[in-house]
Amino acid sequence: MKIGIDSIAFATSGYFLSLETLAKYRNVDFAKYCAGIGQMKMSIFPPNEDVVTVAVEAARKAISGIEDKNNVDMLIFATESSFDLSKSAGIYVHHFLKLKENCRVFDLKQACYSATAALRLAKSYVRENPDSKVLVIGSDVVKYSPRTSGEPTQGGAAVAFVVAKDPRILEIEPWAGIHTTDIMDFWRPSHLEEALFDGKLSAQNYLKSMHISVARYLEKSNIAISDVNHVCFHAPFCKMAQKANSQLFRLKSIGETLIYNSVIGNSCSASLYICFVSLLDHIKDDLTGKRIGFFSYGSGSVAEFFSGIVTKNYRQMLDTQNNQKMLTDRVEISFQEYESLGNRENLDFHSYKNVGEVAMFGINNHQRMYKVRKTY
Ligand code: HMG
Repeated sequence: MKIGIDSIAFATSGYFLSLETLAKYRNVDFAKYCAGIGQMKMSIFPPNEDVVTVAVEAARKAISGIEDKNNVDMLIFATESSFDLSKSAGIYVHHFLKLKENCRVFDLKQACYSATAALRLAKSYVRENPDSKVLVIGSDVVKYSPRTSGEPTQGGAAVAFVVAKDPRILEIEPWAGIHTTDIMDFWRPSHLEEALFDGKLSAQNYLKSMHISVARYLEKSNIAISDVNHVCFHAPFCKMAQKANSQLFRLKSIGETLIYNSVIGNSCSASLYICFVSLLDHIKDDLTGKRIGFFSYGSGSVAEFFSGIVTKNYRQMLDTQNNQKMLTDRVEISFQEYESLGNRENLDFHSYKNVGEVAMFGINNHQRMYKVRKTY
């Protein structure tokens, strides 16, 4: 049975900070950000947007592509930046999408890797339940402290995809190369909003894990590296993906995979799958029948390299113009607004637009309150 990605969509916040602005105020040469780390802009989340609101928007678009949302039997929410250590962020999405009650909902966490774990679980579930569909969401907001080396690599977004049999976009192949190792390269204790990290160690471990997991994938699959037509890499910043590519697939460009991430910033669990959407939306060649490799990396760390074959008629499932419009419609904020939005005391829920149909409007008794602007 062919199983894989049947529809896919992403969403990010309605605001961005230009890295040219950040460079100016941090007294850094802008060339370091645009050429050195490969980033132009980063999405900034106002108080009324969080991992749930953008996830609802991405998921709403992803399930609008399927015939009957009552076939969604499971919703897996992959995130490392949820606000609740007990209740699943996925339950809010289940509620706002009005999915049926007999649908399993839970969150998964392993840094940026968790959406890949969710994809694997979803695939096994569909193999056992061929008429079921599983909604996978990866949603993260990435924050580092001001003036750290991570600051220009902040960002955030959600991706949502439906995993089903006879997929209309990508059939996932069975092989995977996995590498897990206990390392303190990036971590976020529960009392902190900003992640802590050892930047150089994390970049080294990303590359080391890639080489090991790719070697394991090639050995298991008996596929030659030259049989992989395109590769999407987890992109904490675009230069990281380019470096990985230059060590692995020297002759192939990955430029199309990075167009969206270069203006969104790091979106952790969503990042790899936004690379995939960016490839589908921007490459001129017909990808039908082409093998796409995916390198997923989550600090701490777990890495996986796997592949999929693009299915016929995938172009009918794309929403390229709207994806591009969503990004060009974002509002640029000033450095002063960026600083004010970074202040945890800023609870101004009402002065900012939100991209989707659900917005947060307050916190009462430690409970987040969301409002729906439209009913589905
Ligand atoms: P840094 O130390 O400030 O930068 O931060 P640098 O001095 O290493 O410079 C970066 C690059 O810019 C270098 O190029 C410089 O030469 C170049 P490279 O040697 O790497 O090719 N450069 C310039 N280029 C043009 N004009 C100039 C100029 N100046 C310098 N004037 C660092 C870099 C990655 C450490 C930082 O961004 C960071 O700490 N980021 C956060 C951690 C991170 O993203 N790690 C990535 C791997 S871990 C991962 O992917 C997991 C993660 O997503 C989390 C999760 O799993 O949940 C982060």
